Amino acid sequence: MTIQIVILAAGCGKRMHSTLPKVLHLLAGKPLLAHVLDTAMKVSNDYPPIVVFGHQGNMLKAKLTHLPVHWIEQKQQLGTGHAVMSSLSAIKADHVLVLYGDVPLITTETLQNLIDATPQSAIGLVTAHFPDPTGYGRIKRNKQQKIESVIEDKEASEFDRLNTEINSGIYFVPLNYLKKWLPALSNQNGQQEYYLTDIISFAVSQQVPIVSVTPPDYHEVMGVNDRAQLAALERSLQAKRAEAIMLNGATLIDPARIDIRGEVEIGRDVVIDVNVVLEGKVVIGDHCMIGPNVFIRDAVLGDGVVIKANCVIEEASISDACFIGPFARIRPGTSLEHHVHIGNFVEVKKSKIMEGTKINHLSYVGDSEIGRRVNIGAGTITCNYDGANKHKTVIGDNVHIGSDTLLVAPIMIGEGATIGAGSTLLKDAPADKLTLTHRIDQRVVSDWKRPEKMDSES
Ligand code: UD1
Ligand code: CA
Repeated sequence: MTIQIVILAAGCGKRMHSTLPKVLHLLAGKPLLAHVLDTAMKVSNDYPPIVVFGHQGNMLKAKLTHLPVHWIEQKQQLGTGHAVMSSLSAIKADHVLVLYGDVPLITTETLQNLIDATPQSAIGLVTAHFPDPTGYGRIKRNKQQKIESVIEDKEASEFDRLNTEINSGIYFVPLNYLKKWLPALSNQNGQQEYYLTDIISFAVSQQVPIVSVTPPDYHEVMGVNDRAQLAALERSLQAKRAEAIMLNGATLIDPARIDIRGEVEIGRDVVIDVNVVLEGKVVIGDHCMIGPNVFIRDAVLGDGVVIKANCVIEEASISDACFIGPFARIRPGTSLEHHVHIGNFVEVKKSKIMEGTKINHLSYVGDSEIGRRVNIGAGTITCNYDGANKHKTVIGDNVHIGSDTLLVAPIMIGEGATIGAGSTLLKDAPADKLTLTHRIDQRVVSDWKRPEKMDSES
């Protein structure tokens, strides 16, 4: 048996009220359609998955260039049956798995169950019981609990509407049935559309067995039609991710207040405070503490790292026992060796900082290489940009930079050097010496008086 996946994504998504195609809206930082494609490709890679698109095809293709997709255009959206029909000539496998671009949380486990439960010449579908089934097609069963048909919400009677078993729209069907039944679909119904759901009635009338499977969590087959539903699915997915990392040994102060928008790997005994967002690929070692309101994207943290409140860390590598924040910004291309301290209101960009170095207050360090056990005083700035090009600052081991120092790059500060507070260095400073720039004499004005507050009426 070979399987080809067909993902329907041609609907215009009117209820999103958006210029962005619905399936490109983000769930956990990833387009809806990419969720479906990633899941689909884990289930079967016999052939590239087919995506049936309608509007803004170029936008879809541009956003998903990294995935091997066979794109099929459905010029007019005449219904789900018509959408699958448009893809028929491109299908090479003998079985078809139909998915939806706007049903993003379906799992590989449920799809695998569907495939395993469906005999060679039967059709399988995924159904679920929804607390509020409004808007969904309902599964009609006979007295023996055998599926008879799917009734669309718009065509359902009051009685049918009480039925909470819904059609997810996900089917596993032999190609030869689709070839036989799809051309015979009619659009004589409430919406004048060619309904894919009618294949169920065809199967019943031709005694083709119908198998149904149900996912463990009904959220898996919830669709996104508007932004409220998108937000509901986001919460459902985040709750699952939070639970997964807790079961792996991380403490979340409030599992409802963490967002994971990518892949995370979290060690043992990590404590994560509220409002933390982890994006892209984030690795956190053992015994780390992440304070409240922290954003981390594409970063690796070693063991015992402490990130205090309100830090932003992107594309960086942070070794064991570093201490960061509060209010620090670590920008792309930064690597911190172990025991580095980065304090409040410090920005570090594209710099390598070696073990034991401290930059504790109000500094900008960019395009720099800083040695071991260096102390950078408050208000130090590496002036890396001359308006056209970026230049490098190199600081040797054991250097002490006084507060409020400007280091105009390119510049090198030799090992063990001390730089006097308030200096503006335009040239290299030698090792082991005190270097400082001209400063004006301090004087005391003895006859000076502090101004007095004027009469408020004048
Ligand atoms: C469909 C099912 C309904 C099911 C529900 C589950 C039919 C007739 N009804 O209803 O039983 O409960 O999904 O979510 O199938 N699409 C196209 N081309 C079209 C029309 C739709 O590609 O011409 C795509 C849409 O982009 C969407 C999917 O098919 O991804 C479902 O279409 P939609 O119009 O949302 O169907 P529902 O009314 O939700
Ligand atoms: Ca829908």
